[in-house]
Amino acid sequence: MELDPKKYNRIDYQKAPKILEVKDLRVSFKSDSGIVHAVRGVSFDLYKGETLCIVGESGCGKSATCKTLMGILANEAVIEGGTAMFEGEDLTRISEEDFHRIRGNKIGMIFQDPLSSLNPIMKIGQQITEATLINRNILKKRYNDLISKELIAFKNLQTERNYAIQQLVAQYDFYEVDAKKKLSDAVYQMKKAGKPQSEILAFERREKRHIRKEYRTIRKANRLKIRQIEKDYRLKEPALKTALALRKKEAKQENKVYADKLKKELQEAVSKIDVELKTLTPDKDQARIQELQAQRAKLINDYELKTCITKKQARAMALEVMKEVGIPQPEARFKQYPFEFSGGMRQRIVIAIALTANPEVLICDEPTTALDVTIQAQILELINKIKKDRNMSVIFITHDLGVVANMADRVAVMYAGKIVEVGTAFEVFFQPKHPYTWALLSSVPDVDSKEKLVAIPGTPPNLVTPPKGDAFAARNQYAMAVDYEYEPPLFKISETHYASTWLLYEKFAPKAVPPKIVTTRIEKALEEEEAYERHNG
Ligand SMILES: Nc1ncnc2c1ncn2[C@@H]1O[C@H](COP(=O)(O)OP(=O)(O)O)[C@@H](O)[C@H]1O
Ligand SMILES: [Mg+2]
Repeated sequence: MELDPKKYNRIDYQKAPKILEVKDLRVSFKSDSGIVHAVRGVSFDLYKGETLCIVGESGCGKSATCKTLMGILANEAVIEGGTAMFEGEDLTRISEEDFHRIRGNKIGMIFQDPLSSLNPIMKIGQQITEATLINRNILKKRYNDLISKELIAFKNLQTERNYAIQQLVAQYDFYEVDAKKKLSDAVYQMKKAGKPQSEILAFERREKRHIRKEYRTIRKANRLKIRQIEKDYRLKEPALKTALALRKKEAKQENKVYADKLKKELQEAVSKIDVELKTLTPDKDQARIQELQAQRAKLINDYELKTCITKKQARAMALEVMKEVGIPQPEARFKQYPFEFSGGMRQRIVIAIALTANPEVLICDEPTTALDVTIQAQILELINKIKKDRNMSVIFITHDLGVVANMADRVAVMYAGKIVEVGTAFEVFFQPKHPYTWALLSSVPDVDSKEKLVAIPGTPPNLVTPPKGDAFAARNQYAMAVDYEYEPPLFKISETHYASTWLLYEKFAPKAVPPKIVTTRIEKALEEEEAYERHNG
């Protein structure tokens, strides 16, 4: 009996829409040892509703790839090329404010260390509520975006004035403090030297007079400067203030038009549904009625979420999302601080906060690496569940291929800043083609047979000076001469399966097969699958 790989795809890859398209992404870091070429031409698509797992050893550029998508790369990073198209915008090019808009609402990210994303001194209920308020007050957000240019110009004028004045005031204040300190030191020295009292007093009087005079001179000059600054400010302020007020008025108007439009659209869509509902009969058209009612509820819900919510609503939503991520007794847990939660519970909270924005894409960067095995399994299950419930797309990053066997729809294997194999989970787990994938599969511990896992020999190459040819060659027991000279292209194996290794090029390659440990495991897994199918299918 042959298993049909397509049967294992929950996603129809010929039809599913692409939500994110990454093309030839290149990211480098400036470091003391030179330029680190961390991401060297990575391309992948993310389909609606799928979980794409990106797997590879530490340092192969997984985090750098995803941080680029989120716009949170370190300062020393440079995006050297490529595009990442998301809803018509290139995530590698758009402004930081736009990033905030997209990051806040459309793309969520969770990291290995949940504490790094939580505020340690704020109760977690409040953190989730605030995130909800910020993420769901869409009209307010829109208004703030609309006025931000004028608001920043006005604020800058104010802060520049305040800063300049502070500097000038500090100048005469500091002079006085400093001069008085020096004088008292001098007096002390004179006393110590046994100078006559009258001489000391005379010196002191003279010096004090001098300090006062000097202080007044500086103060006078600086007050003149301050007056000039105030004058300049008063000259410039009205224009900016007016511009801001005007923009606020326009923004309010624009927002009102927008809100009215949303409302009108909602009313029209709802009444269209209501009209159809009236034509249906409960017994005959049960299915259609249910469908329409669900559509109607969704329209209203979407509308509310697109406009604004109250603090009370936000609190209720926070409790709801806490329940969704499986935090027991959310009402009681609401008032606790992050330190009162276990690692697994903290990761649930971080997921809850990400969910408040109702993201379309959730990027998980090794979210379970710091957790122990049972907790890890629970978090994976949770991510799987919310992904299904919300029809989200997930990018799941891990160094451990074993972790993702049960959740991946597709797997991309990364090595030294490149994707070396990509395919559906079935293809990568059961028909792997790249020797690095074979190596990763051999290093996954087998729980049943307690087989010794095979560590991959050697270490990944230094990305300051990436090797010529196939970057994996030096660690590849199947390496051929060509591997040290030329980089293999991405060979197509199926519509969904590609791998970059010269082993796939008939002219060069012997009939290389995966190592025994991998083939036996695959055979065993396939037998189990077939037995299961005979039973249930
Ligand atoms: N801020 C940084 N400065 C310099 N090099 C960095 C920086 N961040 C990452 N790198 C380098 O980039 C490469 C890829 O890193 P990363 O994307 O974090 O890998 P992964 O997430 O796969 O473990 C590594 O060689 C790493 O040392
Ligand atoms: Mg990483």
